Amino acid sequence: MSIETSRVHKTAYDAETHARLTVDSDAIVARYPQARSALLPMLHLVQSEDGYVSPRGIAFCAAHLGLSTAEVSAVATFYTQYKRHPNGTYTVGVCTNTLCAIMGGDAIWEDLSDHLGIGHDETTDDGVITLERVECNAACDYAPVVMVNWEFFDNQTPDSARQIADDLTAGKPVVPTRGAASVCSFKEMSRVLAGFGDGRADEGVGAGVPTLRGVELARAEGWTAAEFPDATGSAGAGATTPTVGGEQSSAQRPATTPADVSPAAELKKQSTDDAKES
Ligand code: FES
Repeated sequence: MSIETSRVHKTAYDAETHARLTVDSDAIVARYPQARSALLPMLHLVQSEDGYVSPRGIAFCAAHLGLSTAEVSAVATFYTQYKRHPNGTYTVGVCTNTLCAIMGGDAIWEDLSDHLGIGHDETTDDGVITLERVECNAACDYAPVVMVNWEFFDNQTPDSARQIADDLTAGKPVVPTRGAASVCSFKEMSRVLAGFGDGRADEGVGAGVPTLRGVELARAEGWTAAEFPDATGSAGAGATTPTVGGEQSSAQRPATTPADVSPAAELKKQSTDDAKES
């Protein structure tokens, strides 16, 4: 695979771009009590400019937030949504997590990878498509799922996924099966992820028929979730719903220590681990 020289960016932003990014970054920083908390959306912001987290983007974030470039790089390399080389106009993500995989995701991946001639996190020579294996997108009810710049394409097959890729390559519009009516570019999507909405968040249906099936069945049958226990540990009258940061909140739960684990439970865990390794 080759990356066009023109797509590799220089080492600093010009004055106009720097000024524009500074205004946007100030708006992001203003959302947080501490400036460094703005780093994640700012990395999306520089991706919206360069199509990846470029060296100059890292330098910009570091200077704006009073961090070292090493600190910014450490964060950027941790998350797969941050790209370390120029991304295609469209990220085509094939879910190959367990449910999608067994429903056909692995077959879609193999076919698409062969068809495009690229592997994971690689980009077609024309710069249109970056192909990725992606983890579960909480769309298992529509497995196997393909994402294009994080828009849903549900219930896919190798043929339908190949058609999406061919349309993208040909510059034809593709239509997600849920949510937004169209797919924006990687740079446009990155700007939305930086927190600058494009006004399209509520387009289309999010939760469809399979998604709502469980809750509709529960309503029809009169099923309800168990109540939370009250302060004495018993459910029922007096039971309270935990509030964020409250007693039943996981945020307030002390970390598990060896003292919390009974010898019997520890023995069972050990035998389970041994069985896995044998
Ligand atoms: S396993 Fe693919 S969306 Fe959940």
